[in-house]
Amino acid sequence: MAGGQRTMPDIDPRPAVIADRLSGVGRVIGVGGSKGGTGKTAVASLLALALADRGARVGLFDLDFTSPSAHLVLGVEAGFPAEEFGIDPHVAEGIAMMSVVFFAGEMPAPLRGAESSSALLELLAITRWGDLDVLLLDMPPGLGDATLDVVALMPRLEFLLVGTASRVVLGSVRRALRLLTGIRVPLLGVVENMRREDGAAVAGLAGDHGAHFLGALPFDEHFEKALGSAEALRRTGLYGGVGELADTILSSPGEPVAVAGTR
Ligand SMILES: Nc1ncnc2c1ncn2[C@@H]1O[C@H](COP(=O)(O)OP(=O)(O)OP(=O)(O)O)[C@@H](O)[C@H]1O
Ligand SMILES: [Mg+2]
Repeated sequence: MAGGQRTMPDIDPRPAVIADRLSGVGRVIGVGGSKGGTGKTAVASLLALALADRGARVGLFDLDFTSPSAHLVLGVEAGFPAEEFGIDPHVAEGIAMMSVVFFAGEMPAPLRGAESSSALLELLAITRWGDLDVLLLDMPPGLGDATLDVVALMPRLEFLLVGTASRVVLGSVRRALRLLTGIRVPLLGVVENMRREDGAAVAGLAGDHGAHFLGALPFDEHFEKALGSAEALRRTGLYGGVGELADTILSSPGEPVAVAGTR
């Protein structure tokens, strides 16, 4: 071909493979939307447990590549996943689970933006989730690569935002609400975690953005001791509160309303 420049076609087959891999997944719920330490991992992990305990087919994908921790909450110890035409998620307590920790172990996995996106593509392209009612995504803090990547890649995505009443957290939840409503990602709602005293700040914030406030989960001083044991987790106050959230999810249609208003 003489002269003119050729545009390279997009030769990355992974996005198409991912759509196929997720074809048996009914709902994808990103649990995130705030700065660090609000309890996203705790809520995502207990929600997975509560949904599985209710007979739902549930998956949990830890998207915090630099500090994976959902396996610690649930007490999942797994080596390299089994491979056959892809890799199988590890199954514990009825939860199909995938995490970089199954590959990297305790080794740090510092990833730049493009590398992090590639790791996400890779894991999604190779993981055989099979048929699931709900796939929960334990999102890392912030609104960077992982959020934008899942919005671009995951079909049927909705978000559950986990905030606390702290003023240092509220601003990050507000930004998440603005971003997600602005790009019209369906919102399941906002949950307040670690409630110690009555207050309406998180509920008010949700209302300001036309999002559902899904209730408050108590600060549970016994939670730390229960980490790593599904039996002990089931006895925590947090599990009780998250159970109501699980009931809400199972009774909601799975076609959440895209929230229009932004402030
Ligand atoms: N309701 C609760 N009661 C008591 N402790 C809690 C509660 N929720 C979370 N925690 C504890 O708070 C700490 C932070 O929780 P978690 O790791 O789930 O936050 P995170 O939002 O996932 O953090 P990161 O943004 O770094 O991923 C953990 O030690 C966790 O065990
Ligand atoms: Mg976390």
